[in-house]
Amino acid sequence: MSDPIQTAVVTGASRGFGRAIAAALVARGTHVVGIARDERELRTVRDELGDRFTPVAADATDEALAQQVIREQRPCLLVLNAGATPHVAPVQEQTWETFSRNWEVDTRHVFTWTGAALREPLAPGSLVLSMSSGAALGGSPLSGGYASAKAAVRYLRQYGAEESERAGLGIRFVTVLPNMTPVGGVGEAGIKGYAARAGVDRETFIEGRQPILHLEQVGKAVVELAGNRDSGAEYRLGGEGLSLIG
Ligand SMILES: NC(=O)c1ccc[n+]([C@@H]2O[C@H](COP(=O)([O-])OP(=O)(O)OC[C@H]3O[C@@H](n4cnc5c(N)ncnc54)[C@H](OP(=O)(O)O)[C@@H]3O)[C@@H](O)[C@H]2O)c1
Repeated sequence: MSDPIQTAVVTGASRGFGRAIAAALVARGTHVVGIARDERELRTVRDELGDRFTPVAADATDEALAQQVIREQRPCLLVLNAGATPHVAPVQEQTWETFSRNWEVDTRHVFTWTGAALREPLAPGSLVLSMSSGAALGGSPLSGGYASAKAAVRYLRQYGAEESERAGLGIRFVTVLPNMTPVGGVGEAGIKGYAARAGVDRETFIEGRQPILHLEQVGKAVVELAGNRDSGAEYRLGGEGLSLIG
């Protein structure tokens, strides 16, 4: 990394991708403010990662929280990773509440933190990195509104970058679209659903999707993008690593 990042915020830091990202950043000497709702899980992460990890048990969609954390901590990296586990069922078995679940958490919190990052604003050279999904490219018919919620995350990146440019704020906005992987709760739910639909067991389904994305690669990818001021705007992330879109 060229300039060491002093403070980062990672949403959804208690499990899966977020926990791996927090660990990778702490290992580079970054102070990580980790946000998730379950205080007990966050405390476990704090026990593992030590003083450089500050747990904040809160709902990441809360606008007042976003403003307060940015004002008090002055982060130069926001990793907007928090996400709900989709209700895995075909469209005719969804209710509007289950269908819109990922809009209410994933999209809403990216909307909230993007606005706060531009209004406060973050310091020039800061990075807002949001977690979309490969599902945003091709859809995910068993995941309700998940794919569309993640497509909206891509648009929010674009809108944030345009506003930063117009106001000369110098804030970078990058989106990562990971492949489905069982190492996070979201991917595990999808894999079980798609394996059942294909009539194969979980392990056979995973075998057919090699190389699978691992947690260390997720942490490494975020560290790499944070350190690359000349990065592109959108990347796919799979077992082969990062690849630029477009
Ligand atoms: N795993 C995959 O295959 C995959 C693929 C593509 C994209 N993604 C995306 O990557 C991100 C992480 O996925 P994952 O599989 O690592 O998920 P995960 O293991 O289920 O972890 C989700 C994290 O988000 C937190 N969270 C959920 N709702 C929250 C809220 N309202 N406020 C604050 N924190 C909240 C959870 O903690 P609490 O429940 O305690 O709040 C947890 O820390 C998600 O955005 C997901 O859509 C995952």
